[in-house]
Amino acid sequence: MAHVLDPDRTHALFGRSLLTTHDWGAADLDALLAVAAELERLDRAGVHTDLLRDELAYAMFFDNSTRTKSAWAGAAARLGMQPVIVDGSSTQVSHGETAEETGAMLGMNAHAMGVRHDLILGEGNSFMRDVLRGITEYLHASGDQRVVPVVNLQCDIDHPTQALADLLWLREHFGGDPASALVGKRITMSWAYSPSYAKPLSVPQGVVSLLTRFGAHVTLAHPEGYDLLPEPMAWAAEGAAESGGSFRVVHDMDEAFTGADAVYPKSWGPLALMTERVAANKVGDGAAMKDIEQRALANNARHIDWICDERRMALTREALYLHCLPADIGAEVSPGVMDRFRVAVAQEANKKVYVIMAMLAAAKVPHLADRLSALN
Ligand code: CP
Repeated sequence: MAHVLDPDRTHALFGRSLLTTHDWGAADLDALLAVAAELERLDRAGVHTDLLRDELAYAMFFDNSTRTKSAWAGAAARLGMQPVIVDGSSTQVSHGETAEETGAMLGMNAHAMGVRHDLILGEGNSFMRDVLRGITEYLHASGDQRVVPVVNLQCDIDHPTQALADLLWLREHFGGDPASALVGKRITMSWAYSPSYAKPLSVPQGVVSLLTRFGAHVTLAHPEGYDLLPEPMAWAAEGAAESGGSFRVVHDMDEAFTGADAVYPKSWGPLALMTERVAANKVGDGAAMKDIEQRALANNARHIDWICDERRMALTREALYLHCLPADIGAEVSPGVMDRFRVAVAQEANKKVYVIMAMLAAAKVPHLADRLSALN
């Protein structure tokens, strides 16, 4: 059955960029996810949604990616756009071109811009805001009427297309009215051990700052020293207060799992070392960067018991296991738990293509609700 879209609410998203979910009101996020759900339904029904034919969807990645790159390409292709994805380090940014200049140069040809820039605290989100400023100022100065939204494909603060995909997946899992599906649900975002690399903070920050806004009781669990940045923590507390949900922090994984309806155990780096990395990166000190990484992994290794296994899952209320992937199997999660949820986490990942489609379509297609309704 078609998802009913509110024409005015949907049209209110026209021209928007997505740099953090915090920039968006809860009603706007609901409208965006309604579009995503409808685009998923149309896609699964084999209906063509090529509303943006012959347009260029350009994305720059300053870090590795499997899922988000393919979701960007898949979303663009389903909308009739031409996706192009470049390695950010191959651009002239590495030769000192500013983010504003880069935005202007790429935006003058493109019709949408995606950026992943997640490795260094304090850099990624501000880079994206500068890119957006560069595009906007160029378009304005040259009298170009095109709408070129910027989509954050993961930064140092947020991973909004991931968190929104997670929210869409949780709403589907819990069922009922999407707007109230999370009300009263106990959702745990937990640190988990990883030996592979010091992972960005943006996924847990994005998850806790988004899910608290929809009435969930969110628990953040991590060992001492694995705090998140103050700003998204404040957003989570504010979101919980406004939505009637709650937000707490514990340092015990068992306590966090007990009674949970959904658990999201994944690793991130220790805050002090992630902060130390900023200065080393600024002066291009590769040896210091390597040393910090080794110390981060040694720190992680003090907490190898922070694993999502069958014993911990048994503490929950038959919780749904979530992970943004890739997961360190045998470290973040036991092979048995991962096997049990292998399809579920793939379905969770698949939601991102529809979130990105919704973002591009809502930002660029005037009166989108009517256009989608006409496709039925
Ligand atoms: N979860 C996620 O963003 O996956 P990728 O890093 O593979 O894009």
